[in-house]
Amino acid sequence: MTEQEIARRIQAGRDFITKAFPEDADYLTDQELKRPQPPLAKAPMGGELYDLPTDFSSLPIDRDFLHVINSRKSCRVYTGEPIALTALSYLLWCAQGVKAVRGQRYATLRTVACGGARHEFECYLALQGVTGLPDGLYHYLPMTHQIERLPDAADRAAFITRSLCGQSWGAKANAVFYFSCVFYRAEWRYGVYAHPVVLIDSGHITQNLYLAAASIGLGGCAVAAVEPACANAAFGLDGREESIFYAMPVGAVRPEDHAAEDAFYAFVKQEGL
Ligand SMILES: Cc1cc2nc3c(=O)[nH]c(=O)nc-3n(C[C@H](O)[C@H](O)[C@H](O)COP(=O)(O)O)c2cc1C
Repeated sequence: MTEQEIARRIQAGRDFITKAFPEDADYLTDQELKRPQPPLAKAPMGGELYDLPTDFSSLPIDRDFLHVINSRKSCRVYTGEPIALTALSYLLWCAQGVKAVRGQRYATLRTVACGGARHEFECYLALQGVTGLPDGLYHYLPMTHQIERLPDAADRAAFITRSLCGQSWGAKANAVFYFSCVFYRAEWRYGVYAHPVVLIDSGHITQNLYLAAASIGLGGCAVAAVEPACANAAFGLDGREESIFYAMPVGAVRPEDHAAEDAFYAFVKQEGL
C-alpha cells in the first residue's frame, strides 16, 4: 500500500469516528420521513426452541460491584468443564436481555444502553459443554428469552477457529457469542450517521458480558478479528442486511491457568516492550 493510500485511509477512519453527526440540514432519516419501522428483533429462524431459566439464584454471583470491575480481564484459556444452562442464560440476559418495550413497539429497553434504543444486534452462539443443551449453533431470541437451535457446522472447532481469523483458543470456549448487526434497525433512525453509533453500542454489550462472566467466575475475551463471511455462512446470514462483526468466546476458567494466559503476551518480554 502506498504512503498516500495509507494516509487517505487513516483520514477516512478518523472521519468515520469524528463526523458522526455533521450538519446536513437537507437530510432526513427514514424515521423523520415517517417510513415504517423495522421489527425490534429478528423473528425466530425456525429452529427447535429452548426456554432459558430466569431464576439466577443458584449462581454464585459476586455482588461486590467494585470487585467484579477489578476482576474483569480477558481470558483465553478455558478448562473445558461444562457450564450450567443458568449461567448461559445469565450471560445472555446481561448482554442483551429485554426488560421492557417502550410504547406499542417503538423500542426495547435492555440490560445495555444503546443509541436511540435501536438495539440493532442479534446474538448467535456456538455452544459446547452447556449442561442440558446439545452442542451446536444457536440464535438468541431476546423477546422471549429463548434460544433456537440452528444447523450445526460440519466441524465446529474448525469453524470457530476460522471465524475468529485463526484464533484457535476460541474453539475451547463453552460459548462463543457472535454479534451481528441488522443495519436498517439503526439506519431507520440515524440514516447515514448510524454506523459509528453501531460500533459504540456494541462495546456496551461485550463490557456487560465481561462483567457478567467475571461475576460468576467465568472468563471471556472480546474478539474484533472476526471473518464475517465465514460466520455469516454458518448462521445463514446474507452479509448485506445483516452481518456478524464481533464475537466473544466465554468459558470456564481457573486461577492455575494464569501462566498460560500470560503466554499470549510473552512477546512483550521477548521484545523488551
Ligand atoms: C474491541 C475489542 C477487540 C478485541 N479483539 C481481540 C482479538 O481479536 N483477539 C484477542 O486475543 N483479544 C482481543 N481483544 C482483547 C484485548 O486484547 C484485551 O482487552 C486487552 O489486551 C486488555 O486486556 P484485558 O481485557 O485483560 O484488560 C479485544 C478487545 C476489544 C475490546
